Amino acid sequence: MTARIVAVSELSRFVNEPVTLRGWLYNRRSSGKLHFLEVRDGSGTAQCVVFKGDVSPELFAAADHIAQESSLEVTGTVREHGKLKGTFELGVSDLKIVNAVTQEYPITPKEHGTDFLMDHRHLWLRSKRQHAILRVRHCIIKAVRDFFDGRDFTLVDAPIFTPNACEGTSTLFETDYHGEPAFLTQSGQLYMEAAAAAVGRAYCFGPTFRAEKSKTRRHLAEFWMVEPEVAFMDLDGDMQLAEDFLAFIVQRVLESRREELKTLERDTALLEKVQSPFPRITYQQAIEYLQKNGHPEAKVGDDFGGDEETVISNQFDRPVIVHRYPLDLKAFYFKRDPENTALALNMDVLAPEGYGEIIGGGQREDDLAVLEAAITHHKLPKEAFEWFLDLRRYGSVPHAGFGLGIERSVAWICGLPHVRETIPFPRMLNRLSP
Ligand code: 4AD
Ligand code: MG
Repeated sequence: MTARIVAVSELSRFVNEPVTLRGWLYNRRSSGKLHFLEVRDGSGTAQCVVFKGDVSPELFAAADHIAQESSLEVTGTVREHGKLKGTFELGVSDLKIVNAVTQEYPITPKEHGTDFLMDHRHLWLRSKRQHAILRVRHCIIKAVRDFFDGRDFTLVDAPIFTPNACEGTSTLFETDYHGEPAFLTQSGQLYMEAAAAAVGRAYCFGPTFRAEKSKTRRHLAEFWMVEPEVAFMDLDGDMQLAEDFLAFIVQRVLESRREELKTLERDTALLEKVQSPFPRITYQQAIEYLQKNGHPEAKVGDDFGGDEETVISNQFDRPVIVHRYPLDLKAFYFKRDPENTALALNMDVLAPEGYGEIIGGGQREDDLAVLEAAITHHKLPKEAFEWFLDLRRYGSVPHAGFGLGIERSVAWICGLPHVRETIPFPRMLNRLSP
């Protein structure tokens, strides 16, 4: 009788048939004539029951000594679990160790400290919780692509090495590019502005870098950002796009990652509320709200830190869009509000439940002279921005876009306290390894 090789996730289709699972030993317990091996294979975990009467004495003895995370192949007959309806297990007839571990696996079911787990991130990824996060992350990224692809955007990849400081000079990683200084990109936006003038609706999705000196639960040195940019779109259109986009992503995760959200003990009732329309308030209104709610010192001109963002967003059960910040707080490229030129036509989207800013964007300055003056005002090197100014020389149009940080979105949707678990191998102020 030859057994077919199947994945744990497929077991329900092979009841009463012989199959082989290939994976790693997640956990093991014994009771007299039975050994229970919990085997994980990436698609899930399955209980494999070794009954003394079914296998040779050697195999039965060996099954009692397999160490956690040894790789193995288990053959047996699929059956429904005695007590758990809809759960399938294997009655083992044969078992082969592919590779026994060479030393004791460092991550045991007991509690470990964060630093220890971070040092062992390459192994920590094997745990059920991390697996669930990885799958939600994948689902979010797929939804991001499906959303823009479905709206006829063209994916235009932005470069990683760049001469341009898009988001200010204080968080740049500088590298030596064949004797010339080059920066790791902080944002693909400037390139997407070129792309929008070429294809109308463009987006990029890739890693971006910030030499953040801040050690917070929201900051990474390397994070993934998706950045749409649209020609002939204004700030209102931008806010609408951001709103539709977030509602779409959350809906997709709710539809297709219920099991993972359950593993993460996420309160999905809160996610169900993430539907259009989102509340929109001005920066001015946000300041007034802060003054009345525990931050009497708040005044126009202040930037919002994590605490302020939490207070502002806690009034709402879904993401809130805050628009028109003082120009001085923002990067050089924003268009001024024609109603009040001290304000930028920008917007930030703050996630609920204290997760803070997940989207930043707005309408871009499309006037050549105003943009040139802004570049000078921000003390940016004009030569490096000549190509960007060309976009205003050759058929400039109103345009807008935004950037969504994937990791902060994963943290929010999964309900995680810190961004470090949202990316497979986080890069932070004090962490470059593994
Ligand atoms: O607000 P930011 O800096 O906006 C931009 O970079 C624009 N150029 C985007 C655009 O308009 N095309 O960053 C956008 C988002 C933030 O809202 C946040 O979600 C994420 O990127 N982000 C970070 N995520 C993790 N760690 C950091 N250090 C982050 N900095 C920004
Ligand atoms: Mg921002």
